[in-house]
Amino acid sequence: MPSVLPPSKVLVTGANGFLALHIVKQLLEQGYSVRGTVRSASKGEWIKIKFSSFGTKFDYSIVEDITKEGAFDDAIKGVDAVLHTASPVPDNFVGTYETIYVPAVNGTRNLLNSLQSSQTVQRVVYTSSFVAMMKPHAPGWTYSEADWNDNASKLVNERPHKLPGIMLYLAAKTDAERAAWKFYQEHKDNLKWELVTLTPPYIFGPILQNTPNGSANTIWRKAFTQKPADQVGQHAGFWIDVRDCAFKWQDVYDELQSLNIPEIPNDRVEDGDVKDVPNTSKATRILGLTYRSLGESVRDTITALLERETQK
Ligand SMILES: NC(=O)c1ccc[n+]([C@@H]2O[C@H](COP(=O)([O-])OP(=O)(O)OC[C@H]3O[C@@H](n4cnc5c(N)ncnc54)[C@H](OP(=O)(O)O)[C@@H]3O)[C@@H](O)[C@H]2O)c1
Repeated sequence: MPSVLPPSKVLVTGANGFLALHIVKQLLEQGYSVRGTVRSASKGEWIKIKFSSFGTKFDYSIVEDITKEGAFDDAIKGVDAVLHTASPVPDNFVGTYETIYVPAVNGTRNLLNSLQSSQTVQRVVYTSSFVAMMKPHAPGWTYSEADWNDNASKLVNERPHKLPGIMLYLAAKTDAERAAWKFYQEHKDNLKWELVTLTPPYIFGPILQNTPNGSANTIWRKAFTQKPADQVGQHAGFWIDVRDCAFKWQDVYDELQSLNIPEIPNDRVEDGDVKDVPNTSKATRILGLTYRSLGESVRDTITALLERETQK
C-alpha cells in the first residue's frame, strides 16, 4: 500500500495537545488537509486562528467524550488517514482509573470500531508510549517492540482502583496499544487500512499551546525546582524532541509494524549507571529519523515556557 501523500486529508485526534499541535503544523506545512478532534468549539477555533495562514486546510470536529460509543463516527468521514493522540497525560500523573485508564483504552477501542467499515482511511497511527514497553530486566537491557509492560496490565486488572496515577498511565498506554493490535489482527482481512503504532519516550521541546503540558512541566521542575539545571539529562530517561516525533509522517511505509524508540543522544549527562538501550534500527531504516540533541530540546522547552511566563 502506498504512503498517504499530500494533499490527502488526515484526522488528528486531540488536536490541541502538545504533540498533536506539532503534528498538525507539520502536516499543514507538507500540504495535507487536517481535521482535528477537540473537546470544545473554543479549542477548535483557537487552532483555526493559530493556523489561519493555511486558509481552509484545517477544520475541526467536536468529540466531547471519546469514551462514548460512536464518538468518532462523524470525525472520520472522508479522511484518508488517522493519527490518534488524544489520551490523558495529566501533569505528575495525577488521576484515577476513570480519568486516566478508561479514556485511553476505551477511546482507542471506540475510534477503531468507528473505522472498521471506513472505505477512505488507508492508515491509522496510534500514539503509544515507551511506557507500554517498560518491564523488569537486567541492567543494560536493549528495548525493542517485542517488549511489553505486562506488569502494569496485570496490576490494573487486579486492583484498578488502588493504583497510583503513574501506574494507571503505564497500564493505560500498554492496554490501549494491545487493544489496537488485537482489533487489527481480528479484523485486518476486512479493513482498508493498516495500523502503525509509535512508542515515543518522554517528549520534550517547544510547546505551541498556551498551557504547558505534563512533559514540559517535568523539564520546568527539573530546571527550576529540582536543581541543578545541568543535571536535567540525568533524570530524563529516554526522550525525543517533539519536532522529531511529529516527523515526516508520509514516510511511514506499509511494512512498518511498530516503531522503535530513539537513540540516547551523545550529550546525555553521564552518571556512571549501566544504561538501558533502545533498539532504534527500524526508525533509522524506514523513516531515516535523525534527532535533536537533549541540550537543544531542553533549551527550546524552557525558552517557550519562559515566554509564556512573561506573558502572564
Ligand atoms: N508528552 C510525552 O512525554 C509523551 C510521551 C509518550 C507518549 N505520549 C503520548 O502522546 C499523546 C499526546 O501527548 P501530549 O503530551 O501531547 O498530551 P497533552 O498535551 O496533554 O494532550 C492530550 C490531548 O488528549 C486530549 N485528552 C486528554 N484526555 C482526554 C479525554 N479524557 N477525552 C478526550 N480527550 C482527551 C486532550 O484534550 P484536552 O486539552 O481537552 O484535555 C489533548 O488534546 C498521548 O497519547 C500520550 O500518551 C506523550
